[in-house]
Amino acid sequence: MNDQNLMEKIVSLAKRRGFIFPGSEIYGGLAGTFDYGPFGVVLKENIERLWLKMFRDERDDMYGVDAAILMNPKVWEASGHVQTFADPMADGKMFNTMFKTSVGAGEEVQTVYLRPETAGGIFMNYKNVMDSVHPKLPFGIAQIGKAFRNEIAPRDFIFRLRELSQMEIEYFVKPSDWEQAFEEWRKGMHSFADAVGLPNNLVHELEVPAEDRAHYSKRTIDFEFDYPFGRKELWGLAYRTDFDLSAHAKASSAELSYLDEETKEKIVPHVIEPSLGVDRTILAILTSAYREDELGGEVRTYLALAPKIAPVKAMVSPLLKNKPELVEKAKEVRKELQKVHPAIAWDDNGNIGKRYRRQDEIGTPFCVTIDFDTLGENPELKDTVTLRHRDTGKQERLSISEVAARISESIQ
Ligand code: GAP
Repeated sequence: MNDQNLMEKIVSLAKRRGFIFPGSEIYGGLAGTFDYGPFGVVLKENIERLWLKMFRDERDDMYGVDAAILMNPKVWEASGHVQTFADPMADGKMFNTMFKTSVGAGEEVQTVYLRPETAGGIFMNYKNVMDSVHPKLPFGIAQIGKAFRNEIAPRDFIFRLRELSQMEIEYFVKPSDWEQAFEEWRKGMHSFADAVGLPNNLVHELEVPAEDRAHYSKRTIDFEFDYPFGRKELWGLAYRTDFDLSAHAKASSAELSYLDEETKEKIVPHVIEPSLGVDRTILAILTSAYREDELGGEVRTYLALAPKIAPVKAMVSPLLKNKPELVEKAKEVRKELQKVHPAIAWDDNGNIGKRYRRQDEIGTPFCVTIDFDTLGENPELKDTVTLRHRDTGKQERLSISEVAARISESIQ
């Protein structure tokens, strides 16, 4: 399969199976915008939840915010985005990629920007977090949200978007501690890549040379991924120094320093920023999980998603849907398995082979089938079910509690 062909297959599967649709499609779409459908939205939530769990909820040094997308335009003047957040045009003229909109009416109208990075909303809340929860250095603020960039050439499906989601952390440290924190977050980003199931050999680090770094960064490592269309930036890790806090303190006259209780000195914390695009993560997951093999003499397609992030953990189905006793038992089994995880789907459409193929394409790790033996036709097999494994297509006979344990283990 050539790479162009692979991308076409992934775009087609994403639409066919309800993961990702072109934005405003019936009107011909809008370049650089895509919508997440029923399974895509759950996949996205699972990725975001895992990030929140690993980097906010399970740590004592991290706090969350959910800041407004519209901000006082002075934020983007002080941060340097109004002056420098630009891409070169074909004729050499620089083009600022921040979207403008306006707030208010008549004389009161004011031009504002849609945030080009969620980071701005974090810096705006540094003082609020300090004053409300009184954290000690080092500590971080985490946020997930939309960012907007008027990309000149949106392309490669959800790789280069005009409306995107970011998972960002600004981690505040004493100036002398930045290198240690940088290394810790570097490891943290690799752990997250592992957790969402990205193959190690497809993730690469690139030390970004000074001339290619963003205006605020003294060191940046790009985490690159081998997409079907080439090795491209997946995430970024930047050392933003005290650039933002100092610039905002100067422009707003707000007190944004930190009192070091040991030395009684006021310092402006330095910042390490792990910045992860959600959409690029999803694209990396889809492109690396896409598989074709031969099963039962036919080509089949499946998504080898890590069970932790798979939108459906298991599908339960009665072998025949016109046998009420099978349907009733299958519903009972589904309820039992939903105690392990709520995302246990029901599918009784078409024959069993079709149901399996459908779930393979959604990336459902397990299918559970209830048949007459489950009901006791063969007394030795009473209350056992067939558990089918997505990646091998192999089936085994297990008790319901064994199936529950398998599902539970797979998502730990
Ligand atoms: N706050 C730092 C920042 O925004 P960036 O390298 O410009 O840095 C961070 O963006 C991440 O956001 C990228 O590594 C990528 O994952 C994602 N991203 C940036 N622009 C994007 C776009 N046009 N479409 C999809 N994702 C994008």
